[in-house]
Amino acid sequence: MKLLVFAGSLRMDSCNKKFAREAARLAQEAGAQVEFVDLRDYPMPVYDGDIETASGIPEGTRRLGEKIKAADALIISTPEYNGSIPGILKNVVDWLSREKPVSLAGKHLLLLAASPGALGGTRSLWHTRQPFEVLGVHVFPSMQGLPNAYEAFDAQGRLKEQKPLENLRKLLGQFMQHTGFKV
Ligand SMILES: Cc1cc2nc3c(=O)[nH]c(=O)nc-3n(C[C@H](O)[C@H](O)[C@H](O)COP(=O)(O)O)c2cc1C
Repeated sequence: MKLLVFAGSLRMDSCNKKFAREAARLAQEAGAQVEFVDLRDYPMPVYDGDIETASGIPEGTRRLGEKIKAADALIISTPEYNGSIPGILKNVVDWLSREKPVSLAGKHLLLLAASPGALGGTRSLWHTRQPFEVLGVHVFPSMQGLPNAYEAFDAQGRLKEQKPLENLRKLLGQFMQHTGFKV
């Protein structure tokens, strides 16, 4: 099973990148072939129909689309911005939706969120499902939010507490089994 993992944040010290990397590590331990990518390496402008008309799909979108095409399933850890999907991730989805065929269509997706707040970004999870589902992505029904995320990781980026770690391991197992791909 080929998994593509990334975070909906550009920030170097992003707690969502750490959460996504932990998911990648556990999925690899469970036998999946995993690639973590950083959206910083796939730059794209804010969507503008004039840019699309003049220059087509940005190179960063094309390269990310290739990675998605090659994957069986995706794991994305998203921040919560004002109770919803952050603009950076929505922009990536909007650009990806302009490529034909849409690389995301038919892919399986597990959504995670991490936030320094007490709710763990769970409001964002519900809003983030929507544009992916509109594009024909099979978004796994269960999701995981990580609260107090600035304190959740050690210096190596590992989850300090057993409970979220075990929850993540269990969720990944369910997700991987659900997709039906061989690990
Ligand atoms: C514009 C903006 C809006 C935010 N809104 C929320 C919010 O609604 N809920 C929340 O839990 N955190 C909110 N935050 C705090 C983010 O959870 C925090 O910046 C987090 O570190 C972002 O994820 P990252 O570390 O992966 O970049 C907001 C941050 C920004 C910059």
